[in-house]
Amino acid sequence: MTARIIGTGSCLPIKEVSNFDLEKIMDTTDEWIKSRTGIEKRHIAVEETTTSMAIEAAKRALENAGVGAEELDLIVVGTVSADRHFPSTACEIQSTLGADKAVAFDINAACSGFLFGLSIANAYFASGCFKKALVIGAETLSKMMDWNDRSTCVLFGDGAGAAIVEAADTGIVSMVQGSDGARGGVLSCYNRPVNNPFVTNDTALDYTSMTGQEVYKFAVRTVPEAILKVLKEGNVNPDEVKYFVLHQANIRIIEAVAKRLNQPMEKFPTNLQKCGNISAASVPILLDEVNRIGMINKGDKVVLAGFGAGLTWGAALLDW
Ligand code: COA
Repeated sequence: MTARIIGTGSCLPIKEVSNFDLEKIMDTTDEWIKSRTGIEKRHIAVEETTTSMAIEAAKRALENAGVGAEELDLIVVGTVSADRHFPSTACEIQSTLGADKAVAFDINAACSGFLFGLSIANAYFASGCFKKALVIGAETLSKMMDWNDRSTCVLFGDGAGAAIVEAADTGIVSMVQGSDGARGGVLSCYNRPVNNPFVTNDTALDYTSMTGQEVYKFAVRTVPEAILKVLKEGNVNPDEVKYFVLHQANIRIIEAVAKRLNQPMEKFPTNLQKCGNISAASVPILLDEVNRIGMINKGDKVVLAGFGAGLTWGAALLDW
């Protein structure tokens, strides 16, 4: 038994913020952002929250799959920006959807969160525990940015993407995941500091910090390696893959991966131009866009790949 994606959904905040809008509030330019990353604008939450966007994406995915919430056995949410420490985003979604029999929990694998969630569903299906899962990536990264740090805040956006996954004979052909905690310092954000009657702590709230060039080097080396590994395990040649749906961090990373795999950029759909980097939500939002406009058909080979803080990475070869 493997996991097959049978429906997708996504949700973006209403407010769009262009590079030109950012020029007005910080020392940056559209030219700098676009030439280094490909990003032209991003959606930023005003009324929306991580949970509200995740719920909307989930409803759209259920409708797209023709599945009722009561059929779900499992809800996994990949997020680094949950609204609450507890209960989990997944439990709130379970309650709103009325997915009464589902087991629900969040995971933190940063930008690999959707891929890691998919692998959890896959493992549950393989063990025979569950048959239907809702896997979500949802983020409100704008609240975790230092808006005085132009080197990070211009890169990220908010949104949520979801997929309904069921146990089937075909679907995920092969999957790889990896983590390298030793290099985790290159992209991090501290949670609350230790604070209690026995400790004096006046540490200010932390925001996202990143050593951009180290993350870049990690991505351009690790992502092609992971993709080549899943293709080898699945006995599939890169030429046979219809689309490579990659985490949307930077167009230059995607171009480098395409070059390394010797594949044309047309096989790498992108939405980072209008969404920026939405961590765990990037892959499922892009997958939903590709799915809804009918770019992928039954039997197509599709590769998904995520990478980011942890460091973490994951890739999956799908028989759609
Ligand atoms: N606008 C204008 N100038 C900016 C800027 C901004 N938004 N952000 C940084 N700069 C400046 C820096 O201050 C620096 O100026 P200096 O040379 O006077 O000190 C200059 O631009 C170059 O900065 P640098 O960090 O060396 O640029 P870079 O070419 O490495 O590009 C990234 C920066 C972040 C775009 C690039 O490193 C990258 O894409 N890394 C991967 C990040 C990523 O994908 N993270 C998420 C992974 S999940």
